[in-house]
Amino acid sequence: MATYQAHETAVIDPGCEIGEDTRIWHFSHIMEGCRIGKQCNIGQNVVVSPGVILGNGIKVQNNVSIYTGVICEDDVFLGPSCVFTNISNPRSAIPRKDKYEETRIEKGATIGANATIICGHSIGKYALIGAGAVVTKDVPPYALVMGNPARQTGWVSEYGHKLTFNKENIASCPESNEKYQLINNQIRKLMIYD
Ligand SMILES: CC(C)(COP(=O)(O)OP(=O)(O)OC[C@H]1O[C@@H](n2cnc3c(N)ncnc32)[C@H](O)[C@@H]1OP(=O)(O)O)[C@@H](O)C(=O)NCCC(=O)NCCS
Repeated sequence: MATYQAHETAVIDPGCEIGEDTRIWHFSHIMEGCRIGKQCNIGQNVVVSPGVILGNGIKVQNNVSIYTGVICEDDVFLGPSCVFTNISNPRSAIPRKDKYEETRIEKGATIGANATIICGHSIGKYALIGAGAVVTKDVPPYALVMGNPARQTGWVSEYGHKLTFNKENIASCPESNEKYQLINNQIRKLMIYD
C-alpha cells in the first residue's frame, strides 16, 4: 500500500493511483483514474482531471488545473497558476469530450508562473518556459522560451541555467559543470567520455 499524504480538505476520487511520499495540499481535487507517481508535491487548489498521468518527482504549484490530455513526465515543474488547455475551439453547446488534444511535458521541463500552454504541443525535456508565456508551438528540448506568442531566446542546462556556447558550439553549466553541444539547432548533453 503506497503511503502518500493528503490534507484533510483534499478530495481524491476512486480509482486513482498515487505513489509513495507524494503530498497533496489543501483543497486540491484528484479526479478518477489519475496516476500520480512517487515523491510528487501537489500544491494548494490544484485540480487533476480524470485519467491524467503524472510521473515521479513532479512539483505542481498552487492553482494549477491539469486537464485530461496533459501528460507530465518525471521531474516536471508546473509554476503557480500556469494554464493548460485541451480543446482548441471549445463551444459550450457542442460536446467535444472525445476530441481532447494531447499536451506532453517531457522530463525535467519547467513551466513558469501564469504561462499558458495551447493544447496539441509538446514541451521538450528540460525546456524552461518563462513566466506569463503563451506557448503556441512545440518547444525543443533544453529551449528557453518567453513572451506572447512564446519565442525561443536561448538554451538552458538541466539545472536551469542559460547556456553560452563557444566557437566550437560547446557550453558549460555554471552550476553542474556539465557540458552541452549545439548541433543542427539541437542540444546534445556531452557525457564525461565525450
Ligand atoms: C525567462 C526567465 C527564465 C529569464 O530569462 P533570461 O533570459 O535570464 O532573462 P533576463 O532577465 O536576462 O531578461 C532578458 C530579456 O527578457 C525579458 N524577460 C525576462 N523574463 C521574461 C518573461 N517571463 N516574459 C517576457 N520577457 C521576459 C527581460 O525583460 C529582458 O528584456 P530586455 O532585453 O528587453 O531588457 C525568467 O524571467 C522567468 O520568467 N522565469 C520563470 C520564473 C517563474 O515563473 N518561476 C515560477 C516558480 S516561483
